[in-house]
Amino acid sequence: MRMVELVVPPADAELAADRLWAAGARAVEEIADRAGHVRLRTALASTDALSAQRIGALPPTWRLGHVDVDDEPATTWREFANPVRVAADLVISPAWKLGRHDTGTTEVAVEPAGSFGLGDHPTTKLAATAAWRLVAAHDQVLDVGCGSGVLAIVAAKAGARRVVAVDVADAAIEATIDNARRNDVHIVEASTTPIGEVVGDYDVVLANILAPAIVAMSADLRRVTARGGVLVISGILATDHQHVLDALVPMEPVRTEILDGWAAVELRHRR
Ligand SMILES: C[S@@+](CC[C@H](N)C(=O)[O-])C[C@H]1O[C@@H](n2cnc3c(N)ncnc32)[C@H](O)[C@@H]1O
Repeated sequence: MRMVELVVPPADAELAADRLWAAGARAVEEIADRAGHVRLRTALASTDALSAQRIGALPPTWRLGHVDVDDEPATTWREFANPVRVAADLVISPAWKLGRHDTGTTEVAVEPAGSFGLGDHPTTKLAATAAWRLVAAHDQVLDVGCGSGVLAIVAAKAGARRVVAVDVADAAIEATIDNARRNDVHIVEASTTPIGEVVGDYDVVLANILAPAIVAMSADLRRVTARGGVLVISGILATDHQHVLDALVPMEPVRTEILDGWAAVELRHRR
């Protein structure tokens, strides 16, 4: 299996691992090498170029490479994946490990394939919890950076009238279409349409993407959020996201939830 290898100074190992988790890593192996660096390895996208794109720009002291390793350790995470409860009545489960739940609990089954969004990452949990609470019947919802489609499917299950999902990665679109079918949700339209070309406005916009990407698309995120609508951003660090909120002004933060060092912020247009 082809893996990404990020070589960083030991002091940056935790930050670099966070970057890989946010880019879609399912398991991160840390190896201290003889030169005093830490090598972080994980499987990400189907090509080296896509993996690099998901990780984004790196500090000058980090080095990104790609290595071929045995398949087995790279896929053992599947054994350890488990259903995750994101609300009292909502569970996200690996498609190969569905749970037994009370009637009244909605279960979303996800096969991430080569994409991000199994439900167990704090940023997905935060965004899924917000989507479940915020999406009302008849809403139009946009999921930007849909990955596996998990948030789009949660929105559809919450009663959305129409759900549009976009991602830069072809693998994410394939996974979203596949997972929508798996969950018997027929209203998800998924494509690689860049957010700059998405037309219309949406009652709920969900964007679980790393901070630099949110900043880069901030004008479009404001544009696609309806006047009375809500934008949920996740994928940002709890202690370092003021610059992201600044980029979204004049939208105003109305609620912030924190989990394991990550934040999800809901923003609305000023009245
Ligand atoms: C952290 S994952 C989130 C996946 C899923 N929505 C979830 O909550 O688990 C971020 C996703 O954003 C996508 N992405 C990154 N930059 C993007 C951009 N500029 N436009 C659309 N999608 C982007 C990545 O390919 C990745 O699938």
